[in-house]
This record gives sequence, C-alpha cells and structure tokens, in this order.
Amino acid sequence: MSNIQRVAVIGLGTMGHGIAQTFAMAGCTVTGFDDVKAAGDTVHDRVRQNLRDFVGAELFPVDQVDAVLKRIVVCQSEAEAVHDAQFVTEAVREELVAKQELIARLELHVADDTILASNSSTFPISQSGAGLKRPERAVVTHWFNPPHIVPTVEVVGSPLTNEVTIQATLELLRRSGKLAIRINQELPGFLVNRVQIAVMREVWDLFDRSVASIEDIDAAIQGSMGFRLAALGPLRIHDFGGLDIQTAVYRNLSPEIASGTQVPKSVQRIVDAGHHGFKNGHGFYQYSPESSEQIRSERDQKFLSLLKLFHSRQK
Ligand SMILES: NC(=O)c1ccc[n+]([C@@H]2O[C@H](COP(=O)([O-])OP(=O)(O)OC[C@H]3O[C@@H](n4cnc5c(N)ncnc54)[C@H](O)[C@@H]3O)[C@@H](O)[C@H]2O)c1
Repeated sequence: MSNIQRVAVIGLGTMGHGIAQTFAMAGCTVTGFDDVKAAGDTVHDRVRQNLRDFVGAELFPVDQVDAVLKRIVVCQSEAEAVHDAQFVTEAVREELVAKQELIARLELHVADDTILASNSSTFPISQSGAGLKRPERAVVTHWFNPPHIVPTVEVVGSPLTNEVTIQATLELLRRSGKLAIRINQELPGFLVNRVQIAVMREVWDLFDRSVASIEDIDAAIQGSMGFRLAALGPLRIHDFGGLDIQTAVYRNLSPEIASGTQVPKSVQRIVDAGHHGFKNGHGFYQYSPESSEQIRSERDQKFLSLLKLFHSRQK
C-alpha cells in the first residue's frame, strides 16, 4: 500500500499530538483519540502553538496553518478514529499489556491491509502486537521528542512483518519529511535508544560523583559531542579522529567508565522526591509554571534552527 492519506493516532499526549501534526502537515487527514478528554480537547491548541514556532522559523507558510488544524479530527472513540484509516499508530503509555490489548482491539476495527504501528520506546512489535491475527501488517515506528521536529523515525518490523508494510511505512514517513531509518533486527531499544542509554549511564554516573556542576556537564557535552553530532554521524566522526587513535582510546577508557545497570542513587533520590523534570517543574533544573510555555518555545526554536541546518544539508 502506498500513497497513504488517512492516518489515525491513538494517544494524543507528548508524542501523539506531534505525530498527528506531522502527518497533517504532510497533507494527510488525521483522526485522533485519547481516553483522557482534556488531551483530545487541547490537541488543536498545542498543534497551533507548535505551528506558530514553525512559521516563526520560516519552516512553514502561515496561510496553511488553518488547513493543517482542520485536517486533525478528534474522535469520541478509538473505533471511530481508526475505522477508515490506512495507517494507525498508537502513542499510549509505555506498558506492554496496555499496548497489546489496544493494538489487538484496533485490529477489530480496521481494514485487512491497514498498517498498525506502535510508537514504543522499547517493546518490539512481536511483543506489543502478539495478539494480532495479521502480524504481517504490524511495525514499530519509533519517533523522538518533539516528534514534529526531530527528523529520525526508526522503522522496525518483526520477522513476520511483510515488505509491503515496511515499504509503505518508510514511504509515508519520508513523504512527511522524516528521516525514516529501517532497522534490520528486533533489538530491545532498537538502535538509537541503546546509544542514548549508554551515554545516559555515563552522564548520570558523572553527576552522581559530582565530577562537575549540572550546568557544566550539560555545557561540556553540548560544546563537544553535541556540536559534532549535529553535523556528522558518530562513525564519520571516528573516521576523522583516526581509527588507530580511537581504538586505543576505546581500549584504555572502556574499563574505566560506568557499566552498572542500576539508576545511580542521587538520580533515584530526585525521582523519589517526585521531581520528574520539566513536566512538573523540578528535575535536574527548576522550571516555574509561569515560564514553562516560554521555555518549551525557546527549546523548539533552537531545535527548529537545527532542523533548518539539517534540511539544508539534505539538499
Ligand atoms: N516522551 C518521549 O520522549 C518519547 C519518545 C519516544 C517514544 N515515546 C513513547 O511514546 C509513547 C507515548 O509516550 P508520551 O510521552 O507521548 O506519553 P504521554 O503520557 O504524554 O501520552 C500518552 C497519552 O496516551 C493516552 N492514553 C493512554 N492509554 C490510552 C488508551 N488506551 N486509549 C487512548 N489514549 C490513551 C493518555 O491519556 C495520554 O494522553 C510511549 O510508548 C513512549 O515510550 C515517548
């Protein structure tokens, strides 16, 4: 199936609303459902705000904003949202049973060739789609937050997923401006999260040991690894560094760095205190409720500047 025009998104939270926006910006009709009414009720406001940032960054024409918003239709039930869709993605919470039950229920309401996608960060589709009668149409599409801005989406089938599903999914995502990457094996965490967790483990260990202040840890990484990675992939960076040198550094340092599997105590204490980050105002940093929209907008403006650079490199 190619030229998909009707998409459904189940779960309209942090990820779902941005995924809906992306497909609507690409001209698709997007039907959405969230079992929390407030999430459905606020989708258009959240997408309008996101689009304002796109317009401000000259990445989207202002005269098409209303058309994008009109293409997103919030439905009153999951069945209504998916029944006419050619591509359905779930973006509900990261709980295996919840996803399994939802995906199996969705299959009852869709056409035989509708693609069923899961935006799981960790669960392969052979697990989350375990109850499917037609597992050949199931696939993971793993987006990154904010999904309407970050280019990469990982596309991961199970051994049962057919080639038609993979190709149609890649085509839809690429047509929607995404850098869709096919992952050849069903690894837990796919590709990018495995790398992100490796970096997170070391960063949290350095924080735990107070090797530098929070601000300095962020600044050091941003001004080095982050700076290079915004322009070049890691393997290319290694080539430029010289593989003779890089292999020596790897041999010398890999026994020294964090290799544990427990969250460091200092980070766990922050979470146990109920500090979950930006969403409730306290994390490694503090965020006041009055400035939260401005902080989110400033973050997205920085990301959008990078997106412009990214697009210019693709040309
Ligand atoms: N937040 C991230 O950075 C990120 C990045 C990549 C992938 N993901 C994955 O995306 C998924 C969603 O994460 P999120 O951050 O958007 O979560 P979220 O909590 O912001 O949003 C989830 C939404 O799903 C709704 N929901 C839950 N069960 C539902 C159901 N049965 N039917 C309809 N709606 C339902 C909730 O009301 C909520 O609005 C998770 O699997 C997560 O692992 C998240």
